[in-house]
Amino acid sequence: MVKWKRGHGYILSAIVGTLLLSACGDGSTGSGTTATGITPTPSPTPSPTPTATVGPAIAAATTIDVNNVANYSAPALPAYYDATVTALDNTPAANPANDRIATLGRVLFYDKQLSINNTISCASCHQQASGFSDPARFSTGFSGSAFTTAHAPRLGNVRYWLPGTMFWDRRAATLELQASGPITNSVEMGFDSTAGGIAALITRLQGIGYYQELFTWAYGSSTVTEARIQQALANFQRAMVSSSSRFDTAYAQVFDPAQPNRGLNRPFPGFTAQEERGKQLFTTGINGGGAGCAACHQPPTFALAANSRSNGLDAGETVIFKSASLKSIGQSKFFMHDGRFSTLDQVVEFYNSGIQAGPALDNRLKTPAGTPQVLNLSTSDKAALVAFMLTLSDNTLATDPKFSNPFR
Ligand code: HEC
Ligand code: HEC
Repeated sequence: MVKWKRGHGYILSAIVGTLLLSACGDGSTGSGTTATGITPTPSPTPSPTPTATVGPAIAAATTIDVNNVANYSAPALPAYYDATVTALDNTPAANPANDRIATLGRVLFYDKQLSINNTISCASCHQQASGFSDPARFSTGFSGSAFTTAHAPRLGNVRYWLPGTMFWDRRAATLELQASGPITNSVEMGFDSTAGGIAALITRLQGIGYYQELFTWAYGSSTVTEARIQQALANFQRAMVSSSSRFDTAYAQVFDPAQPNRGLNRPFPGFTAQEERGKQLFTTGINGGGAGCAACHQPPTFALAANSRSNGLDAGETVIFKSASLKSIGQSKFFMHDGRFSTLDQVVEFYNSGIQAGPALDNRLKTPAGTPQVLNLSTSDKAALVAFMLTLSDNTLATDPKFSNPFR
């Protein structure tokens, strides 16, 4: 088993990590949303003084039409994306959802110029078709010959995680602060201190015509700053809301806030008996005969519960890991922080019989006596849990043009 080590591969150097974490004094994770919907009022950072003509360079480099901007800030969402879900939203007041800023974020996300030798972008490791995860267990950095030691997670529903902390070990305080991590990492994108750090990237972007135009269009001036890069990338990623899986289509038809469990227990239209059984196991607590998964991976976002601790992958584990939302889990090829499992059957067998004791293990995965839980699931129940997780695949998110590569 690969041991979790900070300071290797993708893991930030201790110095950068400290800076990131200590820079979070103002890293507000407060919700910028209202109780009536996930969409904050679009309020672009206003400026009356554009400093570049917006259009020609953007049109030459990308397929983006500045006169017909994609809708990132006000998507149509199912009724169950209501106040119970917006309560989990980590959008900070300083970076409300905004179509132009998200569009800038899309260009940054797909731009290989964010790596020191122009070879990789964020999207090289967070691939849309794979739910914005990497189909490889470990990701290849800019050099082509060095690899991360953690698995690149999916990004769908990244906004519904109120602690707001990012990376598997939660070391970045916010999605905004996270963005500088891969850019300045020596393995990933290579703008480390010997290469001039983020300042060198800012100088590079400042000299690119389409960024002059995009920053002007989004922020009212062409000035490139680290904070603007961070905000734009985070704004784009928070728009990656998942609401179009088979789970969603079915739940939308039976959702009823007045029902027990908000209608989740009702039969889902279009589900097979096996998927229905898997849903029942996933959403029912261990004492009720279920597998207790939803106590941590919470429907309908399938974001991790804020108070979840680790799941006992290794004996004596001390790091408190998080999980990305399980939406689109079937579009991942490797599972857990080090990608140690390559099938969902292995994941379910792990929860069934493989949980290890340790200081970070969550009580929800322990017996009343304090030992790691053993579920004793039947073969058909294990298969049912896998079948249910496959209903979370969101093909719309995986193909939506507004999240695709905008470069010509
Ligand atoms: C070379 C591959 C690679 C590149 C390039 C890359 N990432 Fe990642 N990303 C990873 C890996 C690996 C992790 C998990 C690292 C960890 O947790 O220690 C990760 C984690 C993340 C997370 C944390 C998600 C969560 O739920 O905690 C976010 C957000 C993210 N990346 C966004 C980005 C953005 C934005 C960029 C571009 C600026 C980017 N990544 C570039 C590989 C990459
Ligand atoms: C105590 C909270 C908790 C419970 C209960 C729980 N999990 Fe998890 N789960 C986690 C954590 C934490 C991780 C991330 C662990 C890591 O990588 O170190 C995780 C990871 C996963 C992953 C991999 C996610 C990825 O992106 O690679 C899957 C799949 C998963 N859990 C499914 C389940 C299923 C199925 C159940 C019920 C049998 C379950 N979980 C119960 C906390 C929990």
